[in-house]
Amino acid sequence: MNKVKLGAGVPPMALPICLLGSLVDGKPTFCPIAWSTIIDDEPPMIGLVTAKKRYTKDGIVQTGTFSVNIPNTKMAEETDYCGIVSGYDADKSKVFETFSGETEAPMILDCPITAECKLERIIDFEGTDLIVGKIVNVYADDEILDQGKADALKMDPLMYFTNGSIYYSLGENIGKAFKIGKEFSQHE
Ligand SMILES: Cc1cc2nc3c(=O)[nH]c(=O)nc-3n(C[C@H](O)[C@H](O)[C@H](O)COP(=O)(O)O)c2cc1C
Repeated sequence: MNKVKLGAGVPPMALPICLLGSLVDGKPTFCPIAWSTIIDDEPPMIGLVTAKKRYTKDGIVQTGTFSVNIPNTKMAEETDYCGIVSGYDADKSKVFETFSGETEAPMILDCPITAECKLERIIDFEGTDLIVGKIVNVYADDEILDQGKADALKMDPLMYFTNGSIYYSLGENIGKAFKIGKEFSQHE
């Protein structure tokens, strides 16, 4: 097997899409984000990378709260629309039906998983910002829960492949993390 050098750049990766939500001047707005990560689990913290100028980010700065909504594959078109059109140019407040929790952050009713967050800080990079929030609550559709735990295939998250910007769905369950490694034995 030969390795092909692809050069410096974003590697081909499959990333889950989330819809970042906020309230701008009292109206909900959302934009899809592929560059996100969990930062800690206790307390639960999440980070989302945005370009310097994002309408959704303005709402986060205004209210100090935001939501992270995980769309399923059936929501691909409206999710993509929110990534093509900026709130600076169009009102996206009616794209999704929303509900609210304990914060001002609007959450998307149709998303099987949503989280409301309080802004902790914004970390400034040269071309982007890392928006860091504390997750204060997570909401799940009861239909995707199996004995109280979310089922990945029922959640059906919308995945994004960086190479060629293509959406995918999840594949199959191939084993349990922190367990199947116990079967592994190193080559001598
Ligand atoms: C699949 C997809 C993934 C995206 N990922 C990001 C991202 O990680 N960070 C970002 O700043 N913008 C990302 N964008 C672009 C924004 O969602 C887009 O510019 C959006 O229209 C911004 O909306 P706003 O200005 O109303 O906040 C993505 C767009 C798409 C379609």
